[in-house]
Amino acid sequence: MREPGVGHLRRRNMALWLMCVLLVVKCSVVSPQFVPPYTEECRTGMYPPQGPTFKGAVTWYTVDLDLPPSKRWAAIMMEKRSDVVKMIDEIKDLADALVPSGKLIDLVDKELPLIVDTLPYPFNEELRGVAAASGVPLGEIALFNLFYEVFTVCTSIVAEDTTGNLIHARNLDFGLFLGWDVKNKSWLITEKLKPLVVNVDFRRKNSTVFKSTSFAGYVGILTGIRPHAFTLTINERFSIDGGYIGILEWLLHHRDAMWMGFLTRSVLENATSYEEAKNSLSQTKLLAPAYYILGGNQTGQGCIITRSRTESLSLLEINLKMNRWYVLETNYDHWKDPLFLDDRRTPAMKCMNQTTQANISIKTMYDVLSTKPVLNKLTTYTTMMEASTGKLEAYIRDCPSPCMPW
Ligand SMILES: *[C@@H]1O[C@H](CO)[C@@H](O)[C@H](O)[C@H]1NC(C)=O
Ligand SMILES: *[C@@H]1O[C@H](CO)[C@@H](O)[C@H](O)[C@H]1NC(C)=O
Ligand SMILES: *[C@@H]1O[C@H](CO)[C@@H](O)[C@H](O)[C@H]1NC(C)=O
Ligand SMILES: *[C@@H]1O[C@H](CO)[C@@H](O)[C@H](O)[C@H]1NC(C)=O
Ligand SMILES: *[C@@H]1O[C@H](CO)[C@@H](O)[C@H](O)[C@H]1NC(C)=O
Ligand SMILES: *[C@@H]1O[C@H](CO)[C@@H](O)[C@H](O)[C@H]1NC(C)=O
Repeated sequence: MREPGVGHLRRRNMALWLMCVLLVVKCSVVSPQFVPPYTEECRTGMYPPQGPTFKGAVTWYTVDLDLPPSKRWAAIMMEKRSDVVKMIDEIKDLADALVPSGKLIDLVDKELPLIVDTLPYPFNEELRGVAAASGVPLGEIALFNLFYEVFTVCTSIVAEDTTGNLIHARNLDFGLFLGWDVKNKSWLITEKLKPLVVNVDFRRKNSTVFKSTSFAGYVGILTGIRPHAFTLTINERFSIDGGYIGILEWLLHHRDAMWMGFLTRSVLENATSYEEAKNSLSQTKLLAPAYYILGGNQTGQGCIITRSRTESLSLLEINLKMNRWYVLETNYDHWKDPLFLDDRRTPAMKCMNQTTQANISIKTMYDVLSTKPVLNKLTTYTTMMEASTGKLEAYIRDCPSPCMPW
């Protein structure tokens, strides 16, 4: 159903604003002072996590799926409220720097709440609950949730050991182009995000359905495990037919596509096997292109699904016969070279190859993800998961200088 004309026009206006801002943000790319990259030999002996690259363990919280969606996040928001406010204030400052006089945030406060109405259940109601429990205006909570669709760069790996056990590990790098703090040599948003990192145990009838490493206030999922069935992470995929077009379409009322972080959540909540997850992730129409990295509970079950908005472009799966005992994804199509300024793939593969399948474990995967530039100034957390045991462990990271900004 179309709404009356005026609202429609206002929404289009806002869509164009948002587009412009996102494009400005994204195009203020690279400053040459960071070249050449800061790389190093493959790390060893980093686990158990300790020392300057380890900023702390991640705290566990429970979300009870038997509660109405609007109540589910209340406990987390009670504790994390002031950190969420700080983070949102940082985003507002950045927005004001781009478009002075608070116009942008006015727009967010007035217009984004309308978007929440268009989101599918239970996400619409959960977002309202997050806003109510945190005291942050709904539009700003919606913006915060939208951000992950756009600014997430990462490294994800699924590896099979010699016993057929699958280990899935990832670094979540977030905050690219969102304000470099020259004095501190850090990303403003990345630093503000670290206190928001939480592990969440999603339960039904008091037993775990799935678990994730997430950010307080975000209701989608970027990293998660369905114990004994599968593990799942998402990496952003930059493409001309990118997130902005999908987001624009959404604002203009074409709403048959799914936000990528919401699809991940739905799959973890409702798919019960690797194969079922693989099908949903390959076939559901998306708002933005993405890489889904999926691990299973038995030999051969590990893959990268490269998605355009409408279809799966490629499926790269573990294949022991072809000597492919792991799959690894950063933010570039696996059949193409990575951007030379941002090659985390080659160093990560080098370290995986050096480790060998015979010696792969949670411990050695942590070593790979602790090696610069796989570890960089954007790295917020490292999570390691194992479907067979249902284990998820996560650590907040730091990358003291000298360290690549991304
Ligand atoms: C396996 O990894 C551990 C930890 O990094 C290392 O100490 C050990 O030397 C490695 N073993 C082999 C056989 O490569
Ligand atoms: C620099 O970073 C530290 C911790 O990372 C933080 O406590 C401090 O406030 C930051 N300084 C500035 C000027 O942002
Ligand atoms: C839920 O499970 C925990 C342990 O997993 C137990 O201590 C608690 O009593 C259970 N609560 C209910 C309502 O069954
Ligand atoms: C999972 O399925 C149930 C039952 O169909 C539905 O109520 C719930 O909203 C779904 N969860 C998500 C996140 O889509
Ligand atoms: C692997 O997952 C499938 C689907 O959920 C399940 O039927 C099977 O029992 C699991 N196998 C193991 C070894 O956990
Ligand atoms: C790692 O090993 C694979 C498989 O043998 C090979 O294709 C790839 O080029 C190697 N990569 C690096 C960076 O060593």
